[in-house]
Amino acid sequence: MEPLWNILTYLLTYLLPAAKVRQALMFTSKHHRFYFPDGNIFFMVDGILFKVHRYFFEQYSPVFRSMFSLPITAESSAEGLTELRPIVLEGTKLVDFEWLLSVFYPKKLGRPDARTVGDWTSILNLSTKWEFVSLRNEAVYQLSHTASPIDLLVLSHMFNVAEWCIPAYGSISRRSTPLTTEEASRLPVDDVTTIYALRQYITADSRKFHALLKKLEPSKTELQSYEDTVVLTSYPKPSTVTSTSYSRHERFYLADGNIVFLVEDKLYNIHRYFLEQYWATFASKFLSSPAEASTDGHPIYLQGVESSEFYHLLCLFYPKNLGEFEPQTTDELESIMHLTSRWKLTSRVDLDINRFPLITSPVDRLVVAYGLHVTGWLRPAFVALCMRDEPLTIEEGR
Ligand SMILES: *[C@@H]1O[C@H](CO)[C@@H](O)[C@H](O)[C@H]1NC(C)=O
Repeated sequence: MEPLWNILTYLLTYLLPAAKVRQALMFTSKHHRFYFPDGNIFFMVDGILFKVHRYFFEQYSPVFRSMFSLPITAESSAEGLTELRPIVLEGTKLVDFEWLLSVFYPKKLGRPDARTVGDWTSILNLSTKWEFVSLRNEAVYQLSHTASPIDLLVLSHMFNVAEWCIPAYGSISRRSTPLTTEEASRLPVDDVTTIYALRQYITADSRKFHALLKKLEPSKTELQSYEDTVVLTSYPKPSTVTSTSYSRHERFYLADGNIVFLVEDKLYNIHRYFLEQYWATFASKFLSSPAEASTDGHPIYLQGVESSEFYHLLCLFYPKNLGEFEPQTTDELESIMHLTSRWKLTSRVDLDINRFPLITSPVDRLVVAYGLHVTGWLRPAFVALCMRDEPLTIEEGR
């Protein structure tokens, strides 16, 4: 009996951790969309494994950046680097995490996948928690346009969005119908009584109404904005450039990039994923051998492409402010459209012309739409042109 017992204890004490890992693996599955061959960080949410690019977390979230920059000890070093030791995100909802990732890896470049109040709420949730500041701002912007005042009030308490409170209180107390039971049940009791008081004052005593509204203004606890120009700190620097005639692009030579391009005299180091995802014909032609193009010594040379054009295209993959995809100027837009049509990426790019501040007149839009072969922009431009009061001027007719 004794030897058997010994063996059993031995098994339990020494083999349990490994067995646990194996057991855990048997029950985990890889995420159907966000598990990329060239990803370099593993997360686990709700038993699902994600393999994505560390770049985004380090670049845009100070929370992850400080987590990644912790001194490497035996205990923490492997965390997130292998499938066996993913970073387990406890208490994060799977759907929230999926929506966050859809911002990094949109189905169509230039436009976030998220559409509904629910989608953007997921993004607001995690961008607040992990301090993706610019993405939080975009979620706030999107929700201000889509969510109802009741939604906004509920969300403003949850996620501390000070600017929603007053307009929401105002519009709920000004509307003709009182709170429904369903609405009241979603709000804290304080809010219900406040709205009740506001609705009384609005007809009886507008001075009291405004005084109360003013008192409700929450103190601003805005997230600190932070520098955009972050360098990846904890990754080893790639070997130094051997050729002196080329220099690394100051923004898009990413420390954890895995494919190097030479465009004019600039070296770009980016992630293969984006090419495979959005530029399939290119990927099948060039990316067959993984060793190719992973060093400065053997970059893929993109002949006849201007460095500035390539740069503007990369801004779509890696925007300065997450969630804001739009190029700011006509030049940038033209660079992007030129390369995307030349490389046949157009079906994967979806830019919303209504958000280009500089191209406001319908005639300009028509010119741009024809020039860049964006058929989707033609119809609205024609409609706008027909709806306006003045006829075409001779100058425009040209
Ligand atoms: C926000 O996320 C947390 C977990 O990260 C979750 O418990 C909570 O329900 C989420 N809130 C909303 C409104 O979805």
